[in-house]
Amino acid sequence: MPRLMTAIGMAVVGASGWGQNVVRAFYLARGSALRWVCDLNPLLLTGIEQRFSGVRTTPAFDRLLGDPEVRAIAIAVDAPNHHALAKRALEAGRHVFVEKPLALTATDADELCALADRRGLTLMVGHLLLYHPAVERAKALLDAGDLGDVLYLYAQRVNLGIVRQSENAWLSLAPHDVAVAIHLFGECPISVSATGATYLQRDREIQDVAFATLRFADGRLAHLHVSWLDPHKRRSLTVVGTRKMLTFDDTLPDEKLKIHDRAAVPRPGHTTYAEGVVVRVGDVLSPFLPGVEPLLVECEHFVACVASGSRPRSDGRQGAAVVRVLEAGARSMRAGGTPVQVASDGSMNVAAARLAEGSGAGDAKQDGGLRVPATPTST
Ligand SMILES: NC(=O)c1ccc[n+]([C@@H]2O[C@H](COP(=O)([O-])OP(=O)(O)OC[C@H]3O[C@@H](n4cnc5c(N)ncnc54)[C@H](O)[C@@H]3O)[C@@H](O)[C@H]2O)c1
Repeated sequence: MPRLMTAIGMAVVGASGWGQNVVRAFYLARGSALRWVCDLNPLLLTGIEQRFSGVRTTPAFDRLLGDPEVRAIAIAVDAPNHHALAKRALEAGRHVFVEKPLALTATDADELCALADRRGLTLMVGHLLLYHPAVERAKALLDAGDLGDVLYLYAQRVNLGIVRQSENAWLSLAPHDVAVAIHLFGECPISVSATGATYLQRDREIQDVAFATLRFADGRLAHLHVSWLDPHKRRSLTVVGTRKMLTFDDTLPDEKLKIHDRAAVPRPGHTTYAEGVVVRVGDVLSPFLPGVEPLLVECEHFVACVASGSRPRSDGRQGAAVVRVLEAGARSMRAGGTPVQVASDGSMNVAAARLAEGSGAGDAKQDGGLRVPATPTST
């Protein structure tokens, strides 16, 4: 492939823990030519220069905007700074990839979406799991009706640390699972009921754990448990349908996705309790999944969308929909778990519809992508 002729000039802002992964992925991604890495911490920049030959570094964001060869900027700084940097990049005519969450408020997220639309620029959010082969396969199975009617799902994203100081565990960890729930169900929830608790930073009211229930218009539920104060490292998802059920465990080295041929079927007209529900327990199948790194798939999808002008699977509107759910959850936590309506601005259903449309594989360059042995798991 004539990489240098077609490559999109890229810069990455934020080169700390996760940012290092983003730097590496845009360095390796097909269609990307990483030109700059920017971080306020000079020690991180020294390490970047040693690891990635030919990549220039700077602590000054304006240096990136001053390079006309930089067509797109990936923002992997801490969440409170996402909006300001993304806005400056879009205003300077650059396509933008923002790590999750898109912004801290729906107002800020909407502003970025409107700006990108007005300028005809690509805006994509790092909802990594939408690029995970297990989630892609799960979505295909759900859409094909293999599970029957989908009834509910639940997800756990817990571990010990990283304890953040500028955001709580709900904001830090839940965006992935909210994005997956919207993606799999093909629509946005109508309300969120969430309970959270602060144990480590009581003076700042930063919740360490949250239990949230997302309710969808047709009665489906998604229950999410996130925590950075937990003895286990769990990254799991269970989806229950009327015909089959599936489980996804991202901590396993392989066989991450399993389809359980199990169901419970009520029998109308039964006379005794024992006859009332037929429980079927069949095989458990673990489908083959391609050994691609989701982060690399995600970054290649971004540069492909920039090059073609097509909308990313996790575009700004989808990112804004996730922020609305996060906001509703935060309000519910403050109100002691009372269900809070998810604000609608008319774009949410559009976002969900787009998610449903864009779920099929093939719009990203996923086949034959670079395989990197050390796959970083999402937060
Ligand atoms: N997709 C995932 O699975 C995943 C996993 C972890 C983190 N994240 C996201 O990635 C982002 C980064 O996470 P992290 O843990 O590396 O954050 P971090 O807080 O450890 O590091 C942020 C870095 O950004 C730099 N920075 C802040 N403002 C800057 C500015 N104006 N100019 C240049 N540099 C600036 C800081 O110096 C720091 O090095 C966050 O948005 C987080 O939510 C995503």
